[in-house]
Amino acid sequence: MTTRAVTPSGAEVLAERIFSSILGTMDVWSIYLGDRLGLYEVLAEGGQTEDELLERCPIQPRYLREWLEQQVTTGIVHVDDPAFDAIDRTYWLPDGHAEVLTDRNSLNYLAPFVQLVTASGIQLPRLLNAYTNGGGVGWADFGDDMRRGQANMNRPWFLSELGSTWFPSVPDLHARLTAGARVADIGCGEGWSSIGLALAYPNVAVEGYDIDEPSVEAARRHAVGHGVADRVTFHEADVGAVEMASFDVVAAFECLHDMPHPVDVLTSMKRMVKPDGHVVIMDERVADQFGALGDDVERVMYGFSLFICLPDGLNHAHSAGTGTVMRKPTLERYARQAGFETVEVLPIENDLWRFYRLR
Ligand SMILES: C[S@@+](CC[C@H](N)C(=O)[O-])C[C@H]1O[C@@H](n2cnc3c(N)ncnc32)[C@H](O)[C@@H]1O
Repeated sequence: MTTRAVTPSGAEVLAERIFSSILGTMDVWSIYLGDRLGLYEVLAEGGQTEDELLERCPIQPRYLREWLEQQVTTGIVHVDDPAFDAIDRTYWLPDGHAEVLTDRNSLNYLAPFVQLVTASGIQLPRLLNAYTNGGGVGWADFGDDMRRGQANMNRPWFLSELGSTWFPSVPDLHARLTAGARVADIGCGEGWSSIGLALAYPNVAVEGYDIDEPSVEAARRHAVGHGVADRVTFHEADVGAVEMASFDVVAAFECLHDMPHPVDVLTSMKRMVKPDGHVVIMDERVADQFGALGDDVERVMYGFSLFICLPDGLNHAHSAGTGTVMRKPTLERYARQAGFETVEVLPIENDLWRFYRLR
């Protein structure tokens, strides 16, 4: 008997890939529901029956049963014995799943990423309109799911890494912060980078700036909650309009590429920093050039760009239209136009972000 290897056609390979992406999308949306309805929070406490979940979560019984069975089928939730009558089954989260779905302090916490991606999906009709007719969809239009998703996605990194591993790997910056410094945090969102810096460096005072009022209000609450409101204050302001100031460090964390007028923002940052101070930009760790087949970082950044950052930037008149994939040569061009002479890549290890210092 002879056998013949059958190579799947290009169409079959792509069809399989898209099918598996559709399964992934369904996982994402089901996780969004489980997160927003508080189901994972209760499941993280230990095994739960339907009745126990119904007592504590705002969900209708028929939807709960379907959601639980879908979660078991897709492998996120486990069940003691699927053959039991539904009402008698006990559901729980297997090892590690509660961390990813509910542990706000873990670097593996991905529920906010799901929330942010879903927030952009909710806006697809507006995105389609912008793609067709121009304009964009602004940060505020994406709403609370977007601002909370963004804030909680970066929160564990800012609270645990910023002052303990990232900035300590830049000795002169670390020394300046340790000695005591005035820091400005540009586009601070809900303020976790400002709070992370204040917690790590007891002698710094941080001023956060953001144009989005609900983000600034949330940032003020978080600073009080973390006991640093005496050293961390927030301004609702367009950073492009900030006048002279005298900061030792002016930083922008994952936001320069969102700004419609990045050169104005960098010019402001230059005005705000002391002559011997540090201007630090944390942005996406993308390659220096566009390449045909990107790695996962390039893929996720183009995804962010299509659905969030580019339409956010293009929502303003005369926007630079940067998008999430702000490559190093693009930043160098903006920096030169703003009057900086050099852009240095800082020796901070991270898979997603790159840190630049502008002089
Ligand atoms: C992607 S979020 C990043 C927030 C935060 N830095 C973080 O890492 O989670 C971008 C932020 O930039 C803010 N922003 C955009 N344009 C701004 C401007 N001209 N002045 C101040 N903030 C601005 C938005 O309101 C939003 O909170």
